[in-house]
Amino acid sequence: MEKQKNIMDFDTVAFDEEQDAVIIIDQTKLPGKTELIALKTAQEIWDAIYLLKVRGAPAIGVTAALGIYMLSNRIETEDFATFHAEFVKMKEYLDSSRPTAVNLSWALKRMENTALRAGREEGKSVAEVKEILHKEALRIREEDIEVCRKIGEYGLTLVKPGDGILTHCNAGQLATVKYGTATAPIYLGQEKGYHFKVFADETRPLLQGARLTAYELHSSGVDVTVICDNMSANVMSKGLVQAVFVGCDRVAANGDTANKIGTSVVAMVAKYYGVPVYVCAPTSTIDMATPTGKEIHIEERPAEEVTEMWYKERMAPEGVKVYNPAFDVTDNELIAGIVTEYGIARAPYTESLRKIMEKKS
Ligand code: MRU
Repeated sequence: MEKQKNIMDFDTVAFDEEQDAVIIIDQTKLPGKTELIALKTAQEIWDAIYLLKVRGAPAIGVTAALGIYMLSNRIETEDFATFHAEFVKMKEYLDSSRPTAVNLSWALKRMENTALRAGREEGKSVAEVKEILHKEALRIREEDIEVCRKIGEYGLTLVKPGDGILTHCNAGQLATVKYGTATAPIYLGQEKGYHFKVFADETRPLLQGARLTAYELHSSGVDVTVICDNMSANVMSKGLVQAVFVGCDRVAANGDTANKIGTSVVAMVAKYYGVPVYVCAPTSTIDMATPTGKEIHIEERPAEEVTEMWYKERMAPEGVKVYNPAFDVTDNELIAGIVTEYGIARAPYTESLRKIMEKKS
């Protein structure tokens, strides 16, 4: 009899050559139902990203890379300038789906640069450019696995067997291709029998912590406990948390970090209780062109996510004002280290992040 598939056996994002489609798990249905959907048009990709069917900075980047390859492969021309003009239109459209996670524009820019190098600088034919874009999109996907594993290895040096770890939102496998970023040290520790005790903030309003992080960790046999967002001080005051690991959507050049709304509150509470906060960030999330957190564009999302979604009945009065920023910025002073695939950056971040980016290039 075939073994029943675990959520960890599914690809978060993949490309199906036969269907000529980007395949994702519809994360809005989790944990109740594991439904794979095929994205075949630009509109479908845009909607899937905007509606958080696929979410988490690295997964959004990979979806965009596979998506722009799929769309550009259908452009019918042999003239590179015409191909490029069409490519840019689609790239800009996909890029407008969500503003905060820099991985989206990073992946699209990398794909465009690849096309320009091949088509404009090297004079390759449009057919050859398309083949090169195919390989580059798959490479971006594969690299994400390696990057997350490296983050896991560095992150694991920061904790001890049996430690309590608190995480916010979902920076797990479902937000990447494999391992996750903030969860990578947890999964690697699990392989080594570290027996971490993880607290997953439920993460209002969209419950990525309760629905996704708790689901994937629990399915992997990790000791995980869901807590409401206002309980972090309680567990920290009891000495149950030795480290906070979170992901991020954009790291500014000075180390200020945008991540899911509520992360900065966790970091402030952690500072009070002397618990180190580690931000796990692939270098694709580091934006050296944004000097500080003040310049990071924070997405605001519909009021219904706060008042209605996930409730059987509406839980706030009709017509009431709602403020729903999807992310907040954690001040670099609250961060003990930024864990990248090239090592751990420490304060002063302007210098350490620059060195990490130099190592990369
Ligand atoms: O709105 P979401 O669910 O896309 O927000 C996701 C997060 O805030 C994650 O922590 C971040 O993207 C890092 S994922 C490795």
